[in-house]
Amino acid sequence: CGIVGYIGKRDVAPLLLEGLQRLEYRGYDSAGIVVTSPKTPGLKMVKAKGRVRDLEAKVPARFKGTTGIAHTRWATHGAPSDVNAHPHMSADHKVAVVHNGIIDNAADLRRKLEADGVEFLSETDTEVLTHLIARSEAATLEEKVRAAVRLVEGTYGIAVMHADFPDRIVVARNGSPVVLGIGEKEMFVASDIAALVTHTRQIVTLDDGEMATLTADDFRTYTTEGTRTTAEPTTVEWEAASYDMGGHDTYMHKEIHEQAEAVDRVLRGRIDDRFATVHLGGINLDAREARAVRRVKILGCGTSYHAGMIGAQMIEELARIPADAEPASEFRYRNAVVDPDTLYVAVSQSGETYDVLAAVQELKRKGARVLGVVNVVGSAIAREADGGIYVHAGPEVCVVSTKCFTNTCVAFALLALHLGRIRDLSVRDGKRIIEGLRRLPEQISEIMKQEAEIEELAKSYADARSMLFIGRVRGYPVAREASLKLKEVSYIHAEAYPASELKHGPLALIEPALPTVAIVPDDDLLEKNRAAMEEIKARSGKILAVAHQEQEKADRTIVVPKNEDELDPILMGIPLQLLAYHTALALGRDIDKPRNLAKSVTVE
Ligand code: G6P
Repeated sequence: CGIVGYIGKRDVAPLLLEGLQRLEYRGYDSAGIVVTSPKTPGLKMVKAKGRVRDLEAKVPARFKGTTGIAHTRWATHGAPSDVNAHPHMSADHKVAVVHNGIIDNAADLRRKLEADGVEFLSETDTEVLTHLIARSEAATLEEKVRAAVRLVEGTYGIAVMHADFPDRIVVARNGSPVVLGIGEKEMFVASDIAALVTHTRQIVTLDDGEMATLTADDFRTYTTEGTRTTAEPTTVEWEAASYDMGGHDTYMHKEIHEQAEAVDRVLRGRIDDRFATVHLGGINLDAREARAVRRVKILGCGTSYHAGMIGAQMIEELARIPADAEPASEFRYRNAVVDPDTLYVAVSQSGETYDVLAAVQELKRKGARVLGVVNVVGSAIAREADGGIYVHAGPEVCVVSTKCFTNTCVAFALLALHLGRIRDLSVRDGKRIIEGLRRLPEQISEIMKQEAEIEELAKSYADARSMLFIGRVRGYPVAREASLKLKEVSYIHAEAYPASELKHGPLALIEPALPTVAIVPDDDLLEKNRAAMEEIKARSGKILAVAHQEQEKADRTIVVPKNEDELDPILMGIPLQLLAYHTALALGRDIDKPRNLAKSVTVE
């Protein structure tokens, strides 16, 4: 979900609607806006099921105000509908609240409020907050909000307006991001800097347990206990241009094409040629500590988990430390054994995914050392971790991740190289990997040149009901990620399987109507992979190979440039991003905002 708010002198509705557009990738099943102004007191509200453009269509011409808050939602409690959309307003129309996160004790609080005669309009957990604030007898809005948040358990990022206090917006954060944008005689608030970058670069990120009051001229921050805190604005680097489509029809297309440049960024300044080592200043792990690591456990969700699988393999290969990846969402629920000699690595584009954050918090409680491999600077996971590596992919807007996946894999290659060179990886092998990493941007550009051919291929897959993706060892995580990309964006069912396991079951599925995509790197398993393709061919299966040379057994081959064996997985999935994209395009899908999904899942 996304929150944006403004207080100042400008006409607030168009400004907030534009902010919501920029946040829409975080959730898009309903949206709403509340405004007020000193001249026309009282809160005015419009809400709509659907996209921000549906809300925009409903906002009347005379919806004027200079203070307002708005929200775009991804449903958790309560189906998408006008009533369940935020903001939520109290019965007397005095209090309006927008909220990200989940109130765990909402049912309990709701029962108590209903017993007291409060009537609820929606099914959302947020409405509880609205009533708690409205019923507080405290004298100031700050105290009312403080009293309310002290009663709730769970996660929240909230922004609150009150008709009796039209000169301010009060915000609070616990587990769900809130950033303030500091302007000249105007202030902004949002759940994500994406909504602010066109207006200001001066940002204050609230901590958990922190609140803030925004007035047109000023802001102040304090804890939920009321103690003042100091918050110095920092300047964000991301350009507003990163949030524009820059001539592409979709963000996905733009972000796929940004990869060569993005990889260049994650490498920049981090390589030391003299010793064939890397500088990872942020990991806060000295050589002695790095040597003491006995295992590496990587945790992430979705695409980040797949990048973690590739990362684990690189760490095992280059540093010879046992390493594996697991979905953070599983790890946190299985009372895992937390081992003091294991280095835990939390991977997340957004740095906000709740399942990953919860896993990190659990690990920290148990005294583990956790690194973050994160894209969004200053995000919750980045801050919670003991250290980490920023992947510098730049803002990623399309819900399905592409450039961030690639950059995360490269960040893992750097970590693997770093750990390897502290242990037994030779200078020679270190140099070999460094040269390989340096070749990546150009090789990515080479792959992009095949787009027309991949587009034509994609058209022939658009009518498939299901597809199988296979790979072995290095190719397997690539198959996993390619299969996820296809299903997320085209809604075609896809399944990834280790090529080695084909004969233990999935071979039964093979028939002409089930196309297979085989990841076939030119490494020591090439012959084994050829045999797997042979088995499919013998059963009249159609095969598309992604390989370093034409594959005879395949109907078609996408030939990708060869890098070092250990780094090949980084490149082999890239043509399949294009395949997923063009398949979805041929099917007329909503590419940047696939149905039912959200970019950042900040709830359980
Ligand atoms: C959501 C997105 C996925 C993403 C996953 C993890 O489910 O739809 O594309 O891979 O979250 O996100 P993160 O920000 O933690 O990498």
